[in-house]
This record gives sequence, structure tokens and C-alpha cells, in this order.
Amino acid sequence: MQTLLLHTENPADIEQAGAILRGGGLVAIPTETVYGLAADALNPEAAKAIFAAKGRPADNPLIVHICDLNQFPELVREIPESAWRLAKAYWPGPLTIILPRADCIPDAVSAGLPTVAVRFPSHPAAQAVIRASGCPLAAPSANLSGKPSPTTAAHVMEDMDGRIDAVLDGGPCDVGVESTVITLATQPPRLLRPGGITLEQLQAVLGEVEVDPAVTHQLAAGVRAASPGMKYKHYAPKAQVTMLSGTSEQFVSFVNQWAGRPVRAAALCYEEEKDRIRIPAISCGKSDDLAAQAQHLFDALRRVDDDLHASCAFAHCPPQEGVGLAVYNRLVRAAAFHQIDLTPRVIGLTGPTGGGKSVVSDHLRALGCVIIDCDQIAREAVRDADVLKNLCATFGADILDEDGALIRRRLAERAFASQETTQKLDDITHPWIMARVGEQIRAAQKLPVPAVVVDAPQLFEAHGESLCDCVLVVTAPQEERLRRICARDGLTREEALRRMSIQLSEEEFLRRADCVIHNLNLQDTLAQAEAFLRSMNPYGGTADEASH
Ligand code: TXA
Ligand code: MG
Repeated sequence: MQTLLLHTENPADIEQAGAILRGGGLVAIPTETVYGLAADALNPEAAKAIFAAKGRPADNPLIVHICDLNQFPELVREIPESAWRLAKAYWPGPLTIILPRADCIPDAVSAGLPTVAVRFPSHPAAQAVIRASGCPLAAPSANLSGKPSPTTAAHVMEDMDGRIDAVLDGGPCDVGVESTVITLATQPPRLLRPGGITLEQLQAVLGEVEVDPAVTHQLAAGVRAASPGMKYKHYAPKAQVTMLSGTSEQFVSFVNQWAGRPVRAAALCYEEEKDRIRIPAISCGKSDDLAAQAQHLFDALRRVDDDLHASCAFAHCPPQEGVGLAVYNRLVRAAAFHQIDLTPRVIGLTGPTGGGKSVVSDHLRALGCVIIDCDQIAREAVRDADVLKNLCATFGADILDEDGALIRRRLAERAFASQETTQKLDDITHPWIMARVGEQIRAAQKLPVPAVVVDAPQLFEAHGESLCDCVLVVTAPQEERLRRICARDGLTREEALRRMSIQLSEEEFLRRADCVIHNLNLQDTLAQAEAFLRSMNPYGGTADEASH
């Protein structure tokens, strides 16, 4: 079959497209969302031809397109008030409404379901073709099943040349992702596919709207899809796509690991990142321009294969709000739900004194981790005005000299006099220290680093483990720890024992640890620290591990 190329600006071409459709043929037409592969929705044979041309599974129903609100009542059993409200607010436009179907809808169109999906597109040429054809038009996206939806006539020709009667070229589509699909056949209304009309816009008209779990999550094996299209592999280029969440810095740093490697990796990035990326990259728009990202997404997915010939592609995970939810929904399917969170994990590092925690801390720093030194923050705590005020109230105003500076020796004498006084000191300083640690963690988690390490001898006493993803304890046999403390700090055995006795017991450290390094020989300890970091590090993968 020879596929005719028609143009929307030519009225005779619109008429010709209408005539082909009236005669039961297939024409790809532009809409404001994506190009649709149209056929007479009331002609079962024409509808079946759509499935054949696309290679579409027969159980995936089609959307019926109208150009006049008067066509709506003919296609559905009845129109609830909520449907009229939606239609009034967002039609014509990128919204598809599902309702129980009228008898005129062929089984082929609704794929045997008791419902039908109806949409009134806003694209003038789409409306003109529907009018010229004289019938409502069934039209799925005009791509081969599984491929990204077409947003230009050239995309349609790539997939459909020789398989359909004509393509009507109307230039690139505005919205770029398919219409929002909502069913009013259930109560409350349920969003089946996010699109150009956002969830927030639907809620503004309908109040409560459920979001089908398949919008953001992979359906478990055997679960029936509310929208059959959700269960199929979708939008996928040949390259394996991975979604990355994290800051721009983290994204750039991660993808640049693939520069100069034999694997052909590509990046789908934000405009402002492009200059810093050293692998082939396609920008889908500015980071805060979700509409642009939606508009360019499918074209970018096709170019990953056709222009960049990449074998894997990394895409930024968009925020799941506004049109971002639609971009997320398409990307996560293109990626077969493969995602990597580039946010560095937070490791709490602690252990009994003399265990060798600082050796591990230094090594993790050398491996690129951010180290948050809680001893350092503790020294800053006693310079804070509020902390000093509380310390004076508890331990006496004379812990300050005439200039208001802390007399450390005096505070130490009073605070370490008994367990009770030590507790009072901790109750004042620990919350302040942990608040600073929290701030430093949040700042460090924006950086492209393998992990953030909270180095804290008193991690448990200060309840710091709640800020951490996991706790690494470094310890050594008691005799060895004693020997190290005596040598390091010039203490007698008794003095060293006394210092150890005011700490948590080793058993307590071990009980609360997620991972333990028994520091017996240096080389082994450093190797264990490295292995632990690798297991936590989102950047730690090789090209083979990160693709899939
Ligand atoms: O923007 C769009 O909606 C484009 C343009 C051409 O209008 N069309 C489009 O159609 O995206 P298609 O076939 O690619 O996607 C229709 C989606 C599929 O996921 C399908 O399973 C779902 O809508 N759908 C159609 N009828 C349904 C029904 N009765 N119940 C549940 N889901 C339905
Ligand atoms: Mg489709």
C-alpha cells in the first residue's frame, strides 16, 4: 500500500482524508496531544484494520474522537452530571472520558469492555477531519505498538509508511503526551492515564479523584489492568532507559561516568545541564518547564535510537506534579520501571573508643564521602548563645568568664561529676548538635558523592541513628582497644578502663549496628569499609550494572 502524504493547510487534503475515512480507510491525523491513527469508529472492519496496522493487542480498546458535543450522547449509555462538568471545563482538549458504552460501539473498538472512551480534541485539523468524514473516529496513537507515540508526521511515516492509506501532516504536536484518561464508570472517578489535563485540574472540577496504581507502579503479575493499555510495554526505544532521581549535579556526574567508555550511553537532560554533559545528550527543556518536557519527550526517545544510536539512555526523573505526572508515567514505562536514586545514603559511623572508627572515617573521606564530624559540631555547640544560656541555668552562671566565654574546665568538672549531671549536659547539647547534623546532611545529599557519613562516637546517645539510613560500627577486642587508648592518649590501664566504662558497652554497639567492622588488621579493615561503601553507593555501578 502506498501511503499518501497530505497537508492540513490544504482544504482539499482535509476533504480527501475525510473521504478515505468514510470509505473505511486509515488516516493518521494530527491532534494537540500526539498523532492518532484514525478510522470510522462505527465500522467494525475499519476499527480492526487499526489493530492490524499497529500490531496492537486486540484487548486494548480505542478512544473515539468527536468534533461536536452533540455526538457525545450517541456514543454512551448516559451522561452523568460530572461528565458534563468535565466536558464544559476541558473540552475540546487533551481529556478522554470513559463511560458505559452505547450499543452502536463495535466490540472491536471497546475491546469487549462494557465502556467506551470518548475525546473531543482541540486541534483544528483533527476537528476538521472528523467533520469531513461525517463519523466519530476511533484513533489510538499512530505508532507501532510498544514504540513511543508520534508527535510529528515524520514519526508516523517511520512506523506506518506502507501500512496505512494516508498521513495528514499538521506539524509537531503541542502537548506531546497523550490525553488524560479518566473513567466515570466507577465511583469515585479514577485517573487511568495522566496527560495534558492534570490531576489537579480534574480535582478542581470533580473533587475526589482516585489515581489508578498502574499510573506510577508496575502491575503485579496476574493483576487486571483498569486500562488495558497500562499492562503493555510502552514508549520504549531500543536503547535501555534508566530513570535517575537526584539533583542536576548528581545527574551530570553520574552520566559523565560513561564518557569515553565503549558502551554508547546517552542522556535525556534539562537544558541547563547540556553544556556540562560529556556523552551524547538531548535536552527536553528547562528543569522547571514541565510542559516543554512533555512536548519533547517522545521525539527525544526516538532520537536516542535514530540519531544517537545509543544502547542505553539515562533520563531525569521529573516531579510527579502537574504535567510532570504524565512525563513520569511515560518515562517509567520506557524504562521498564528501572530507576536509580542518586541521593547519597547516610551512614552513621560509631563504635567503642579505641575501636578504630577514625581510621574508617579517614578512609571513607579519601573515597569521596562527605564526613560530618560530630565532635567538631559539639565544640561549636558550646559557643551558641542559646546553648550557653541553658548551660548557665543548669550548671551556674560562673561557667562563663567576664567576657561571656565558656570556662571549659569548670563546665567539665560540674557536668562530668556524675551520670546524672552528664545526662543534663547531653540533654542540652545533643538536640542542638543533631539539628546541625540534620542541616549538614540535607546540604551534603545534594552533592554527587558516594555517601554522607555521620561520624559520631555518641550516635546512639544523641538519637542520631534516626537521621541515618544505616549504622556502621567499628570495634576491636577489648584488650586491643585498651592498648590503643593507653598508647594514643598516654593513659594508665585504670584510666583507660574508666574512660571505657562511661561509654555504651560493646554489646550495645553490636546490637544496634546494621553492619560491623572488626578492626583487627588495617588492610582488612579498609577493604571492609570499601566493600560496605560500594554496597551503599548509588554511583558505584558499572555500565552493565546500571543498564539492565
Ligand atoms: O491523546 C490521545 O489520547 C491519543 C490521540 C490520538 O487522541 N490517543 C491515544 O490512544 O493515546 P491510545 O489507544 O494510544 O491510548 C488509549 C488508552 C489505552 O491505554 C487504552 O487501554 C485506554 O486508553 N482505554 C481506551 N478505552 C478504554 C476503556 N473503555 N476502558 C479503559 N481504558 C480504555
Ligand atoms: Mg498509544
